[in-house]
Amino acid sequence: MSEERKATLTIDGKTFDFPILKGVHGNDVIDIRTLGAKTGCFTYDAGFMSTASCQSSITFIDGEKGELLYCGYPIEQLADKCNFLEVAYLLRNRELPNADQKAKFEGTIRKHTLVHDQLTRFYNGFRRDAHPMAVIVGVVGALSAFYHHGMDYSNVEHRDICFQRIIAKLPTIIALAYRYNTGLPFMYPRNDLDYASNFMYMMFGVPSEEYKINPILSRALDIIFTLHADHEQNASTSTVRLAGSSEANPFACVASGISCLWGPAHGGANEACLNMLEEIGDVSRVGEYIKRAKDKNDSFKLMGFGHRIYKNFDPRSKLMGKVCADVLAELGLENNRLFKLAKALEKIALEDDYFVEKKLYPNVDFYSGIVQKALGIPTTMFTCVFALARTAGWLAQWEEMITDPDYKIGRPRQLYIGAARRNVPDIGKR
Ligand code: SDX
Repeated sequence: MSEERKATLTIDGKTFDFPILKGVHGNDVIDIRTLGAKTGCFTYDAGFMSTASCQSSITFIDGEKGELLYCGYPIEQLADKCNFLEVAYLLRNRELPNADQKAKFEGTIRKHTLVHDQLTRFYNGFRRDAHPMAVIVGVVGALSAFYHHGMDYSNVEHRDICFQRIIAKLPTIIALAYRYNTGLPFMYPRNDLDYASNFMYMMFGVPSEEYKINPILSRALDIIFTLHADHEQNASTSTVRLAGSSEANPFACVASGISCLWGPAHGGANEACLNMLEEIGDVSRVGEYIKRAKDKNDSFKLMGFGHRIYKNFDPRSKLMGKVCADVLAELGLENNRLFKLAKALEKIALEDDYFVEKKLYPNVDFYSGIVQKALGIPTTMFTCVFALARTAGWLAQWEEMITDPDYKIGRPRQLYIGAARRNVPDIGKR
């Protein structure tokens, strides 16, 4: 980060200079940390449209170019050449593992996939039809009850074990939520399977017969994990950072990230998008929904479209569309009704002036639901899969924050627009 230029602010005839900081890529930032003390004013930026909440070396997004880099590597190359655990290692260490580091890390993860057997009793407290995101918020938060005493997260070795435990156990916890929902017996993880195959085994295997792994399908799922692993300071990552800034237990911080991700404006859009496609039902009705999406008086939004940063295209959507086509081809579902409908909807929307003017393009959630449904993952589980993958990014961002020597507890201010100071009237005068 270099400081070359200054921004000058004039308030009531007085001028104030603030340094402009330049990063490696992307927008320069005006360092306004002394603004309040110098001027008595705060900035106002609801939704953080123009606010950098931190400095980070993990992920970079160029919304105009439709570029996503994890530690400098383009997402397209990582999705093609690496597996998710290599990407999780990269996000935390900022470098890809060499062969020995990869073997050691993958071996460690395989040895931590079991959960404390008492943790499985939490599931019985939920209704069978509870939304799995509600279940995993609770169960992941409960992990903090198992891993709290004696943990000192200023100690890198304790952070190592925390990272390993969450990356390793989240697939097990999520698969258990699905099994509980279906009434199927819990499947214990298998250490002989790779990360994505093990997740599919725990989701879809049954104790009464051998489960055959389809390497094409498990590789597709592994790529889906990579595409969702991190994404700068999105809402859920910012939630994890803010929760972690109070030195809260990292398992509880991840649970706060899961809570935020659940919303349909964020990670919940994949579930909402598939429900929307089911509701549209047929290409003949696409025009009706495009019209609704454009209607200011209609709260309907085209789920899976639009993004705060990508104003060209979301590179993950293109990659997800290819993974989707590969999975459907492998399963002989090339004529999948929803996929054809999604393709038609994408084409029509991208030719519509409203979407072009507002730069609304398909985002990561647009094809994610279709490919997950084809893999046999139920709609309500889509955002759980997103959370499984994003946990790698959340933890890397959490660790970057708590190991930053300059970090402070996050404490935004406000513009107060409530009642002016007044005295409490006696009861008879209210
Ligand atoms: C994710 O931040 C991240 O990086 C998130 C994420 C990640 O990896 O962490 O990429 C994952 O959350 C992807 C986004 C998934 N959400 C959806 O697909 C839900 C539908 N999309 C919208 O809700 C919306 O596009 C957002 C929330 C994604 C972005 O919202 P912004 O940046 O606040 O933009 P906005 O809502 O102010 O929209 C700008 C304009 C508005 O019209 P005007 O008020 O200017 O007239 O575009 C319109 C909006 O009404 N608009 C849409 C639309 N998205 C925006 N109109 C119709 N359909 C849409 N999908």
